[in-house]
Order: sequence, then structure tokens, then C-alpha cells
Amino acid sequence: MLELSALGRRYGDVVALDGLSFAVEPGQVHGFVGANGAGKTTAMRIVMGVERADAGSVRWRGAPIDAAARRRFGYMPEERGLYPKMPCARQLAYLARLHGMPKAVARERAGAWLARFGLAERAGDKVEDLSLGNQQRIQLAAALVHEPDLLVLDEPFSGLDPIGTDVMVEVLLEQAGRGVPVLFSSHQLELVERVCDAVAIIDAGRLVAHGAVESLRRGDGPDLVRVDVDASAPSWWQGLPGVGLHRAEDGRVLLELGPEADPDAVLDAARAAGSVRHFGLVERSLAERYREVVGDPREAVGQGR
Ligand SMILES: Nc1ncnc2c1ncn2[C@@H]1O[C@H](COP(=O)(O)OP(=O)(O)O)[C@@H](O)[C@H]1O
Ligand SMILES: [Mg+2]
Repeated sequence: MLELSALGRRYGDVVALDGLSFAVEPGQVHGFVGANGAGKTTAMRIVMGVERADAGSVRWRGAPIDAAARRRFGYMPEERGLYPKMPCARQLAYLARLHGMPKAVARERAGAWLARFGLAERAGDKVEDLSLGNQQRIQLAAALVHEPDLLVLDEPFSGLDPIGTDVMVEVLLEQAGRGVPVLFSSHQLELVERVCDAVAIIDAGRLVAHGAVESLRRGDGPDLVRVDVDASAPSWWQGLPGVGLHRAEDGRVLLELGPEADPDAVLDAARAAGSVRHFGLVERSLAERYREVVGDPREAVGQGR
């Protein structure tokens, strides 16, 4: 298990991390979500030992992390760190050897990952001569080539086409399947929701929500019902017990139904107000939950602070 405990980090006046704690279990695909500048990269860099924490600690399998343990980690940094002029196969084999693999095994693993990603015939090409999508595949292979005990991937899906995305998902699930804890950051909430067992949502260096994706989605809020009615009267739901407006969206409304609300009464009221085009319980999405704890996810990309 990987445990981040009360991590703190400042850069001058900027508080990048402010008491961040959560854990990633063996075999778990764990998402890491937050607006630009929320502190995801800083936290991952601290886990990888390329950045120091001002406060708190990171533990791996119950102990502080030493160099030997860290050599068994696989990391995809945000600023992709490959040697552009080195041929793909040589580069991967070199990285595997840095992580302690014998030469023959390193070569074999490098070849196997290239084949896996459909890049066998590019083995002798320089990394810089590949398309960005293929460079990203090499970057993933670089994180995996030494068969790591832990995977830490900083925005591995950014810039991937749909096929690249599928391959990435497949590989992450496969790694988790062999017991590896996988922590990755992403802005793509639908993807995080689809792929992850658990997710940590951070805002301004603080954890604002954490847990199994399923329970996070459900949350502890009221049921949500989407009603699309061609109503002449605005606020036709007002006065119904336990019913409140959650959000109005493109003429439709999302209503909150508390424990005392009667869905039949809501439907009756909608029918009385006009012609009902849609009436149904809404599964809360991770994006919905994110909106509740952080803000509009559409503002998450390119927001900075
Ligand atoms: N090396 C650095 N020097 C100064 N400020 C930094 C540095 N690294 C990160 N920060 C600041 O720390 C905050 C968190 O950044 P970061 O961890 O990169 O967030 P995220 O990965 O979630 O976008 C931001 O305000 C960022 O500007
Ligand atoms: Mg980042």
C-alpha cells in the first residue's frame, strides 16, 4: 500500500499541498483529480522523491521509501522524460537496466513492450521521429519496462487518441490485475469514473473527496430527478414537499428529492404544468460530484491559479 500522510509543500507564498492524505491499495486503479494547480504533480513528484515535502510523509508497504524501493516504482512524469535522439528499443532497455534488470532481460522486456504497442518495426527509430501518440506509448513502456511494484502516472491520457486511450486503459487494468497499485492524474472525469476503483479529488492542495468511485458518485445528497417539461408556469415544482431545484439546464430542470418527497406527486405536478418529454432518476456522475465539491469541471482545464 502507498500512503500519503499530511503532505505539505509551499513554493514561496504558494501553498501547493496543505495536509494531503490518502492511500492507494494493492491492485487498485486510483484516480487523482483536481483543477490545474491543485497540487497533483507536486504530490506525485514527492512520492517519486524528485521533490521534497515540507511536512508529512509517504510510506510504501508500511515503511519510509528508500532508493531500493523507489527503483521498483514506475513513473510517467508530466514533462515527458525521454531522450529524443535515442532509438526506442535502446532507450527502453537502458531504462530497464537503470532499474536493475540484467542486460538480456532488459532487452527482452523492451522488445516485448514495443511489440505490445505495435511499435516493433520502430525499434531502431529515434523517439523524436515518432508521432506524439507513439512517443506517449514509449513513455508508458518506459514506466513499465522494469515490471514495477507501483505505478505513478501524471496525466497519462493527455494527448492520446481514442485507440491510445483504450490501450492505456487496458494496460492499467492489467497492471492492477497483477496487484500493482496504480495512481494516475487526469482531467477526464468520465474516464476516471469508468476505469478507477477509487479516486481522490483535491482542491488547493487539500483533499476534498476520497473513496470508492461508486460511493463518491452516490454521495450522501438527495436523489436527483431530471424533468423535461414544456411548462407554461415557471417553478411548477414549488410547494411540493421535499422538492428543491438542483440546477436548471437548457430548459430542463434537475430537482432534488429529499426523504419526504413523493416522486409520483412530482410527476403529477409536471403533467399538470405541461407536456412531459422526460422524467427520470439521474445517476450522479463523478462530474456531478466534482461540481459539488470543487466547481464546474469544464473550468478545470486551463484554469491555473
Ligand atoms: N517548482 C515550482 N515552483 C513554484 N511553484 C510551483 C512549482 N511547482 C508547482 N508550483 C505551484 O504549486 C501549485 C501546484 O502545482 P501542481 O502540483 O503542478 O498542480 P497540478 O499538477 O494539480 O496542476 C501551483 O500553484 C503551482 O504553480
Ligand atoms: Mg500537473
